[in-house]
Amino acid sequence: MENRAMTQSILPTHPLDGLQLTRLQQAVEGLNSEQLTWASGYLAGLGAVQPAIGEAANEAPLLTILYATHGGNARGVAEALADGARARGLAPRLVAAEGYRARDLTKERLLVVVISTQGEGEPPEGAFELFRYLKGNKAPQLDGLKYAVFGLGDSSYEHFCQAAKELDALLQGCGAQALLQRIDADVDFQRQSTAWQGEVLRAVGQLQPSDQARIIPLQRGTTAGIRYDRNHPFQSELLERRRITTTDALSEVHHLALEIDPQAISYRPGDALGVLFRNDPAVVEEILSHTRLSGDTRVKLGDDELTLTQALIERLELTQLHPRLVKAWAALSGDRELSALSEDGEGLRRFVQGLQLIDLLQAYPVELDGQGVVNLLHPRQPRLYSIASSQAAYEDEVHLAVSTLRYRGHGREHLGGASGYLTRRLVAGERLGVYVAENNGFRLPQSGDTPIIMVGAGTGIAPYRAFLQAREAAGAGGDGWLIYGNRHFHRDFLYQADWLNYRKAGLLKRISLAFSRDGKERTYVQARLYEERAELYRWLRQGAHLYICGGVAMEQGVRQALQAIAQDQGGLDEAAAIEYIESLREQGRYQRDVY
Ligand SMILES: Cc1cc2nc3c(=O)[nH]c(=O)nc-3n(C[C@H](O)[C@H](O)[C@H](O)COP(=O)(O)OP(=O)(O)OC[C@H]3O[C@@H](n4cnc5c(N)ncnc54)[C@H](O)[C@@H]3O)c2cc1C
Ligand SMILES: Cc1cc2nc3c(=O)[nH]c(=O)nc-3n(C[C@H](O)[C@H](O)[C@H](O)COP(=O)(O)O)c2cc1C
Repeated sequence: MENRAMTQSILPTHPLDGLQLTRLQQAVEGLNSEQLTWASGYLAGLGAVQPAIGEAANEAPLLTILYATHGGNARGVAEALADGARARGLAPRLVAAEGYRARDLTKERLLVVVISTQGEGEPPEGAFELFRYLKGNKAPQLDGLKYAVFGLGDSSYEHFCQAAKELDALLQGCGAQALLQRIDADVDFQRQSTAWQGEVLRAVGQLQPSDQARIIPLQRGTTAGIRYDRNHPFQSELLERRRITTTDALSEVHHLALEIDPQAISYRPGDALGVLFRNDPAVVEEILSHTRLSGDTRVKLGDDELTLTQALIERLELTQLHPRLVKAWAALSGDRELSALSEDGEGLRRFVQGLQLIDLLQAYPVELDGQGVVNLLHPRQPRLYSIASSQAAYEDEVHLAVSTLRYRGHGREHLGGASGYLTRRLVAGERLGVYVAENNGFRLPQSGDTPIIMVGAGTGIAPYRAFLQAREAAGAGGDGWLIYGNRHFHRDFLYQADWLNYRKAGLLKRISLAFSRDGKERTYVQARLYEERAELYRWLRQGAHLYICGGVAMEQGVRQALQAIAQDQGGLDEAAAIEYIESLREQGRYQRDVY
């Protein structure tokens, strides 16, 4: 109460908005006077400016924490490590790979990298330059550098944690010395990351003379304020959902509008929304009936105790099974065929495609108690959806275009966990946990005058709606060209009216379409790109930024088409055409968001 009175007394002159003031009041509530004195020093530190690398004499940062992410997991791990380091009085420099100058590596003494793997064993977009630099013939000597690498990946992919492995080898190849063994963490990385953070901080502590442990001004924006992330999602309400493909379309895509508090959540065009979904209660009922378990059975998940039904609906993966689960299941069921399959890496990867828990239970029954079921399953992973709106146009909303994943597998109809929830079960007025997954590798050009070419297929059109809303709100005059593909013009041209309006308003100068099932021959966006190669090359020569969003295969096709265009229009040989695309990428003029 005393604290509240204190903060209220400064009300007339403070620069905080209502929500910020409430948060500050909550944060200091109950602190005694000694704690308040410390906190005031801490807050003063937050306001101070952090020196840039090598800026102050002999003040090179003791520890640089670099992260390369696509969906935000690596960033979360890096931020938690940075918080831990600060709590120990260190002054880490926390930096995203896309904001890091690769040449600064020679100035580092202690570098910790958290990096995920994307595509088919590739580093996230933001780390491409770093990799290129380390692989190139101007690769630096890094004899004075100590480093640690934490890799994030998914062992159901063929190239598990490939980017982390490669980076580790590259750093070593340049003479840097590993402080700790590299960690290759799987989808359930939380525990490993917490343990690793402790190890890093212990190892770093041993390197520092104790008199260097000092309180140093902390970096802005990381520890201050509430950070909504996969572990602390924002509770958002579904305002509206409507289907935006016709009922006779093969794909079922829905437009969703979710409410957010603009004081608490901000996002930029190019970002995705992380969604914490709830599994289907009907499927959970079936699981319970197969296992003959009561949903009221109490189970433990980490430190939490909850009912089996709650755990299955809210906390565990039922629709996307991990190869490791199948291995464990094979051992439990004693089924010879399943055991043999679980030893065949490639066969196992194919087998888990489309495999849901209910399929395993039906085909290979095992006796398990409630806790046994929980121990076998992996924690539910959030799913990402490209944001299809701009906050400049919809301050308190987030729009998504979600395709319902429906498939027949293992003898029955299946729905995807998150897309089934978002498009079939969630109803207007209900709340769900969300967070913003920043994507600094997919951003509009700084200048509104720069032309943009937006290539997308299926729901890959979503971020371009955000791009054009932002450009319209900013009154930007740069030309836009949308190159879009889907199956049928009349059935699944997503947000068609929007594009036609942008065309009328002049924000879209060109629209090129490839509807694969409308003609006799199947035509895809890459073919359209090549057909319009002279114009495309002209746009690129005028400085256009090229964006690609959609499936991995589509991006590969577009890249090949672009290479052929550079050869045809630019008179380049194959190597020079590849180099041309690389240089576009380096300039931030070739950006991809693939999934
Ligand atoms: C950065 C990013 C942005 C994205 N943006 C969007 C977006 O804007 N809109 C959108 O709709 N999605 C988007 N996605 C995809 C989305 O995140 C989910 O992956 C998708 O909705 C499926 O999730 P789910 O939980 O419904 O399915 P899950 O429960 O995760 O099931 C997926 C599993 O189903 C199986 N499967 C899939 N298809 C088949 C098939 N045909 N036959 C057999 N098995 C199959 C596979 O095993 C797959 O692993 C994006 C993904 C990323 C990474
Ligand atoms: C499109 C896509 C491709 C992926 N490819 C790989 C891969 O080749 N190897 C791997 O180990 N993990 C792969 N992953 C898994 C991610 O590395 C993993 O989900 C990680 O936690 C993501 O971290 P981030 O959010 O920091 O990007 C892929 C994930 C996606 C969405």
